[in-house]
Amino acid sequence: MFSRFLRPARVSSAFSPSSSRSLTGTLAATRQSNSVFIRSFAVNAPRMTTSVLIPRAERVAHFEQDDFVIEAAREAVLRNECNQYSHPKGRPRLRNALAKSYSPLFNRTLDPETEIVVTAGANEGIFSIFAGYLDQGSEVILMEPFFDQYISNITMNGGVPVYCPIRPKGDITKDMNASEWKIDIKELESKITPRSKIIVLNTPHNPIGKVFSREELEEIGALAVKHNLLIISDEVYDRLYFNPSDHQRIATLDGLWERTITVGSGGKTFGTTGWRVGWLIGPKSLVEPALAAHTRLVFCVNSPLQEALAVGFERADEVGFFGSQVGAYEAKRERLLSVFRQLGLPCTIPEGSYFVLVNTDRIQVPKDYPFPELLNSRPKDFRTCYWLTKEIGVCAIPPTEFYSKPNQPLAENFARFAFCKTDETLDAAAERLLKLKDYIK
Ligand SMILES: Cc1ncc(COP(=O)(O)O)c(C=O)c1O
Repeated sequence: MFSRFLRPARVSSAFSPSSSRSLTGTLAATRQSNSVFIRSFAVNAPRMTTSVLIPRAERVAHFEQDDFVIEAAREAVLRNECNQYSHPKGRPRLRNALAKSYSPLFNRTLDPETEIVVTAGANEGIFSIFAGYLDQGSEVILMEPFFDQYISNITMNGGVPVYCPIRPKGDITKDMNASEWKIDIKELESKITPRSKIIVLNTPHNPIGKVFSREELEEIGALAVKHNLLIISDEVYDRLYFNPSDHQRIATLDGLWERTITVGSGGKTFGTTGWRVGWLIGPKSLVEPALAAHTRLVFCVNSPLQEALAVGFERADEVGFFGSQVGAYEAKRERLLSVFRQLGLPCTIPEGSYFVLVNTDRIQVPKDYPFPELLNSRPKDFRTCYWLTKEIGVCAIPPTEFYSKPNQPLAENFARFAFCKTDETLDAAAERLLKLKDYIK
């Protein structure tokens, strides 16, 4: 039954990465800044000991608890064996730590030898899946808005993205919950053709902040079974979902483990996006073609930071890291939302991830503002976000970048703000954003 998608595509030859940097690229780079994760969870964590010559004062002792991943990275670089190539599948210590942490979440004992592959960030993992499965003209079903890297990852591997929008079903002129953005399952099915090979799911979702419900996952899973599709479940924000939402994994639903590769990110999990460590989890036969591509692409992932993330997972449960992190992020979400409430700008309240979609329709950007020429051909949200950055001093992402061209009008009255920032940065942003009062109609 699975023979069609189990057959790997040719593993592509090397690509030269594009060096062009668009405005979006520049803006997008800012969303990676989230080192605050490391610092903000510490308050509830038990103290860890490191061997230092002169112990620090008790009042600052907890600061070192914040940094166990950073500390582990420092120690790893000093160990010779951590500075050599790793196995292409990933360092055994990290694969073991991932298996231990994720087995209960997948309701099965994960085999670190065959069911986990460590990748150079989630993005390279996703690229490798496409490289391992897509033939020229194979179609990939995407729900939009989508993480923008999917597109080039698909097209560079000969694939064709096919889009189905997730639409806001509530009143977008008022605050709404991210769960009110819905996929129409019939519309989704109408996008499937005999060339469809993969469907990509992202939950918790960037940029909506939606956490797909079990019912929604069941419907998507049923389509994948009916049309024999491989599911890529991009769950890079799987440790960041807020009460009362409950992140469910499509791979745990009946009959779906066999056709799902779940993607994770050390960068999102521990606030270390610059380390470029991620992973794929799935049955041996499914991850093998991706592993083949990954081995040609990068051979292996940097060793010391894999070691540090292994320590991160080993200790995270001990010190209640993930729970504390969610608490810290709930507070940050409120900090940012309260600014938009003061401004009367409607928001999508995220159930997970760390983004807020704001309805910017009521912001009146001066008509005679001197925008650079290249923005004239872009949708309205590009100009709004450019103006916000230049004149208000707060950078947001234009969400039409996450849509196919025909559906960009669905998003041009939104801007995506991120709250993966220090409280000081969020306070500074709040102060600046309040200047928007003068521009709201
Ligand atoms: C939905 C989604 N998937 C994947 C990624 C890439 O993650 P990584 O930094 O681990 O490559 C991101 C990063 O922003 C993302 O938002």
